[in-house]
Amino acid sequence: MTSKNLKDPNLAARTNGRNLIAIASGKGGVGKTWLSITLAHALAKTGERVLLFDGDLGLANLDIQLGLMPKHDLGSVISGRLTLNQAVFTFDDGGFDIIAGRSGSGGLANIAPSRLQMLSDDLVLLAAGYDRVVLDLGAGVERTVRQLTHNVGTCFVVATDEPTSLTDAYAFIKLTHMERPTAAIKIIINAANSTREGERTYNTLLKACEGFLKFAPPLMGVVRRDGKVRDTIRAQSPILTRFPNSEAAADVQSIAKKITEN
Ligand SMILES: Nc1ncnc2c1ncn2[C@@H]1O[C@H](COP(=O)(O)OP(=O)(O)OP(=O)(O)O)[C@@H](O)[C@H]1O
Ligand SMILES: [Mg+2]
Repeated sequence: MTSKNLKDPNLAARTNGRNLIAIASGKGGVGKTWLSITLAHALAKTGERVLLFDGDLGLANLDIQLGLMPKHDLGSVISGRLTLNQAVFTFDDGGFDIIAGRSGSGGLANIAPSRLQMLSDDLVLLAAGYDRVVLDLGAGVERTVRQLTHNVGTCFVVATDEPTSLTDAYAFIKLTHMERPTAAIKIIINAANSTREGERTYNTLLKACEGFLKFAPPLMGVVRRDGKVRDTIRAQSPILTRFPNSEAAADVQSIAKKITEN
């Protein structure tokens, strides 16, 4: 990447955040970070230029899941020592670019709203140099999490079949839909026992959205529960490198295909 993207308003106007995909959930631990990495990897494998951004300002850990030790991270950008462009590095194994968060510090969670808005606007400019940007968000429905979704074209809300995951996903959808009724919200059911069961879980969430919000977010896909996910996270290497033919890898690749065909 060069600094060209941040300086060329025409390039930025071309995409204007439409190619940004945020991965949100409400409840923590539902697989957002793993899914963000795998989706970025799957999109890169289709030939797209992809940037993966660690937007978990509280507990950033994208670099940990990949076993990376980035020289730069968002901490330096937020403190003004680096521009967003300068914090980009390439993850050769996956063929995509990354902006890492500040692992293990939790220190970015208190960022001022105006500073976060600047960061988010810079990300839209940077995104113009890519086909797709995947934004891994923190759990919860707090201001910082929601503010990062304001500029994105699409928001994938991840839920599992756990009741608390569904109620928290519903809370996230409700707040986002009320703030931005035109936001494209789509659902991913992760760690499902089967594709059928995942679709049933989606229908439960859909009924709540239709009943209370008069809004029907579509299903983007179901990702099956797969022991290989834990294995790859333990080994700090991507599932599409280690087990490209596993069920979970195949499910995420189907989602990537759907995205590129849209
Ligand atoms: N499809 C799956 N099959 C089996 N296990 C999974 C699957 N997806 C995620 N997991 C497990 O869920 C755990 C949590 O994943 P991850 O850290 O990506 O969640 P998260 O939503 O990003 O969490 P946080 O909210 O803390 O950021 C992982 O350790 C992984 O083992
Ligand atoms: Mg995470």
